[in-house]
Amino acid sequence: MHILFATSEAHPLIKTGGLADVSGSLPAALQKLNPDVRLVLPAYRAVLDRLDAVRVVARVAVPGVKEPLRILESRMPDSDVALWLVDAPVLFDRAGAPYSDPEGRDWPDNALRFASFCRAVVELASDRCGLGWRADVVHCNDWQTGLVPALLSLEAERPATVFTIHNLAYQGLFGREAFDALRLPERLWGIDGLEFYDNLSFIKGGIVYADHITTVSPTYAEEIRCAEYGNGLDGLLRHRADRLSGILNGVDTDSWDPAQDPYIPHHFTAAKLAGKTQNKLALQKRMGLTPRDDIPLFGLVGRLVHQKGVDLVIEALPRLLAREIQIVALGTGERELEAALKAAATRHLDQLAVHIGYSEELAHLIEAGSDLFLMPSRYEPCGLNQIYSLRYGTLPVVRRTGGLADTVVDADAKTLRAGTATGFVFDRPDADSLADAVERALAQYADPAAWQTMMRTAMAQDFTWEHSASQYLDLYRQAIADRNP
Ligand code: ADP
Ligand code: GLC
Repeated sequence: MHILFATSEAHPLIKTGGLADVSGSLPAALQKLNPDVRLVLPAYRAVLDRLDAVRVVARVAVPGVKEPLRILESRMPDSDVALWLVDAPVLFDRAGAPYSDPEGRDWPDNALRFASFCRAVVELASDRCGLGWRADVVHCNDWQTGLVPALLSLEAERPATVFTIHNLAYQGLFGREAFDALRLPERLWGIDGLEFYDNLSFIKGGIVYADHITTVSPTYAEEIRCAEYGNGLDGLLRHRADRLSGILNGVDTDSWDPAQDPYIPHHFTAAKLAGKTQNKLALQKRMGLTPRDDIPLFGLVGRLVHQKGVDLVIEALPRLLAREIQIVALGTGERELEAALKAAATRHLDQLAVHIGYSEELAHLIEAGSDLFLMPSRYEPCGLNQIYSLRYGTLPVVRRTGGLADTVVDADAKTLRAGTATGFVFDRPDADSLADAVERALAQYADPAAWQTMMRTAMAQDFTWEHSASQYLDLYRQAIADRNP
């Protein structure tokens, strides 16, 4: 089977969030089961800076861009998966992030940037670039690739398409004028097409036209069929329910392994936990907190946005910091949340340490050195940090939603007795429910033997990619069989 995996970010080349982790590791896991997998990505400046061996293999003309796009060929640094880059300096060679400028504002030409990327993917998949390779299935991810299934639906002979929703809140919405400027065929307009309340919706291209739709956890696949989580698309998702399923993300167990993580000073395993305490002391020191083994240390890593419930943490701080605990937080995101966290840290120098920024190394140290991990998300399609936490014996405190509900087992009388508990789960998205869960966690922490049992159970959970990759492979076969002419 020829698989083309289309994505707008992939670790270790370019990353804004979990999509990059998935795009870095799923194609590699697929390749172990099926030898012909290719990844296609925009040639952002940061990506070209990180690769030395690239060569131009084709050129593709697209509407709205003067020079033809160049197709570059290379390999993914860690996994050696074959890589195509869609190169157009006018679209992708800039300072800043993949979707936004250095000030954090969306690039004004995002519609053209990702429509052009999608058109190049369609040409590559259909073997119209002279490369002698035709896809059997194109696996698209998030709104940036949404036009691929839409454009392919117009072709008489086409590969099957799978569209994965990593986050339904980001939809790629632009005015009708963008639809005209992109010279998209008129028959794609309309409520049964790319139109969303008079706007152009990239994500609808995936949801309406793909042969199969997936999300990154079974619970999120259910949730998005309801108004509360559907972002206005729940009706359409109910309509396509027979083609919608959830496949839980795995994690890259080479990069996230406490026994050999190059970012952490002390390695440890479930059998030898001493290194974890050493990491805790190193983390406290690094963040300017008093190094103390006996005080429960909570970690938080992630995008500082409404989705992640960072405001709930901030609101709960008076209750949380009234207890003898420490918290370390790392992230970037909404300016007000960043500012509120920083302000709280200056008021509680000995209990709360905040690092605003992006640091892979510190993210690993926080996972390794913390006792508990805070992730009170309002919604969470899958979430990777709670899974990294489990692997590092850092027990997560999470809200019961999406992938958090699918990966963390709440410590209640029954699960504690059965030895299956791995964390602390609460239901309502409010500060008191979060603080209640933290209280429960602290009560458990006070019993070291019971705590260690939970840590070992958490560390023994299997979140490797093999299982999910074989589910995707089955789904690709199904999509090929179900493909509408
Ligand atoms: P999302 O994709 O919604 O942001 P995930 O939990 O799926 O959430 O993935 C987030 C990924 O990004 C994780 O690998 C996490 O470690 C990483 N990450 C997020 N913020 C930062 C940061 N400030 N520094 C380092 N890594 C970060
Ligand atoms: C999105 C989601 C996150 C998920 C990630 C990878 O960014 O917010 O929950 O883990 O995609 O699928």
